[in-house]
Amino acid sequence: YPTEKIRNFSIIAHVDHGKSTLADRLLELTGTIKRGLGAQYLDKLQVEKERGITVKAQTATMFYNYKSKESSTSYLLNLVDTPGHVDFSYEVSRSLAACQGALLVVDAAQGVQAQTVANFYLAFESNLSIIPIINKIDQPTADPDRVKSQLKSMFDLDPSDVLLTSAKTGQGLEHVIPAVIERIPPPPGMSDSNLRMFLLDSYYDEYKGVICHVAIVDGSLRKGEKITSAATGQSYEVLDVGIMHPELRSTGFLLTGQVGYMVSGMRSTKEARVGDTLFHNKTIVEPLPGFKAAKHMVFSGLYPADGSDFEGLNNAIERLTCNDASVSVARESSTALGLGFRCGFLGLLHMDVFHQRLEQEYGTHIISTVPTVPYIFEYSDGSKVEVQNPGAFTANPKIRVVASWEPTVLATIIIPSEYVGAVITLCSERRGEQLEYSFIDSQRAFMKYRLPLREIVVDFYNELKSITSGYASFDYEDSEYVASDVVKLDVLLNGQPVDAMATIVHNLKAQRVGRELVDKLKKFIDRQMFEITIQAAVGSKVIARETISALRKNVLAKCYGGDVTRKKKLLEKQKEGKKRMKRVGVYFRI
Ligand code: GTP
Repeated sequence: YPTEKIRNFSIIAHVDHGKSTLADRLLELTGTIKRGLGAQYLDKLQVEKERGITVKAQTATMFYNYKSKESSTSYLLNLVDTPGHVDFSYEVSRSLAACQGALLVVDAAQGVQAQTVANFYLAFESNLSIIPIINKIDQPTADPDRVKSQLKSMFDLDPSDVLLTSAKTGQGLEHVIPAVIERIPPPPGMSDSNLRMFLLDSYYDEYKGVICHVAIVDGSLRKGEKITSAATGQSYEVLDVGIMHPELRSTGFLLTGQVGYMVSGMRSTKEARVGDTLFHNKTIVEPLPGFKAAKHMVFSGLYPADGSDFEGLNNAIERLTCNDASVSVARESSTALGLGFRCGFLGLLHMDVFHQRLEQEYGTHIISTVPTVPYIFEYSDGSKVEVQNPGAFTANPKIRVVASWEPTVLATIIIPSEYVGAVITLCSERRGEQLEYSFIDSQRAFMKYRLPLREIVVDFYNELKSITSGYASFDYEDSEYVASDVVKLDVLLNGQPVDAMATIVHNLKAQRVGRELVDKLKKFIDRQMFEITIQAAVGSKVIARETISALRKNVLAKCYGGDVTRKKKLLEKQKEGKKRMKRVGVYFRI
């Protein structure tokens, strides 16, 4: 296929607007998969199925016979699937780099939502041709005219360019691929230049090893050739190359403008740097503009629920990060929880999905600590450090923190107008600063806020949903660090600090958070033989305190005779306690 007969495009949409269903229909329509086999073919992982969200971008090649008035020509179409959620926006922009166009899918009833806005701008800034599609027109509440006018007022998209479809009933789908061929330009690469290959994604396959998804920007790639990575300088031999149709189909070569896979004997996905440029050995090429490395914005400690099973957790994490190089992992130990890991994630959903995959795919039970964000601290000795772990706040008692900065996000919130008041209250409670407030039509408001990331990592989205009866849509992008007055809040049980429960909070909130923590802990801790004091403290100053009085009867004494069943019960109880602790970790809003 010469490049004029190739089209590379992706589908972008707000979560649930029907991106995966539409992708399935296009695969069926082109005979790439059998009808009915779909069930969201491109969403492979179990969590994705369960949550109905796309996590890892997948790509498929399709062939299509395009009939114009004069002739019928075969086209090669590469559909680059993209995740819909904000945490993965780096994957979206990565996927878009291999495309010249995008289908912007909007639900006919829900209209433009927060991620529609975010995704539109990602595509727009990558200079892609955008084909607006209003999907789910079969729904009784569909109002395509209203959505058309939103698309016009928000993005200046011409209503006459909008396609109307139902991925469910099939209505309107026949116009989608012709629009792709007519409106999206072919890839611009040069076939007689040296090879420049862009690394889109990689995953680990038990039999084949590391499989890279690649886009051939210039030149061509053949099996047996030797290639070098611009990022690492490492050389490899191309062992296999082909297309995803949608299963891997070896072709022995990939030509300019094509998207496909390559196997090259890389040992781990860490060698396959996403955004890297690969070229033939002994040639000199200008590397393609890469992507900034994914920045980890949310950290949490992960510990085996059964303290002894550190090795099990270790293995599970190793295997899982083989396929998700975007998680950072460092060993950590806690006096309360034993040996574990501190993991860094791109965002909240990313963290949630990782936790869930650990439990589901590896049967691991884990305790996770309250998520934290990276702060920057300047110390009295002049050093400036990024701190990801509350424990490291003042690791050295001789130096003091003299200034601190915290990360913020730019949040987009779209809501029915009657909820504006409630959302403004929530955002100001969370130390937000309103940057923009307008209406996208007579019923919907659009707001932009700067919010400290710290304030949205726990529970923000749930609360936003609950105060707006589920109608709010929310998206955010990382923004700058701003100066902030933060302190470390310690939790002490009988005077002993519990390292895993320490957290960093804004000074103004320390009192309230400390009180909430102590009250909640009081409910979670069982009465014991002795009195327990629970304290929250900033430095040496105790800001909240509760006591749990001792049990009157000495139940433990009965154990001394070596009553095995009783001991077992106590052990069971301890396990329960740990489970509860896990909940404590997850649900504390701090
Ligand atoms: P993410 O993968 O989470 O980004 O969502 P998505 O945009 O891929 O949405 P998905 O294709 O999973 O569709 C979401 C839900 O909408 C599913 O229950 C689909 O069956 C349903 N759906 C998709 N297209 C249509 C349609 O045209 N009409 C109707 N009525 N329902 C649809």
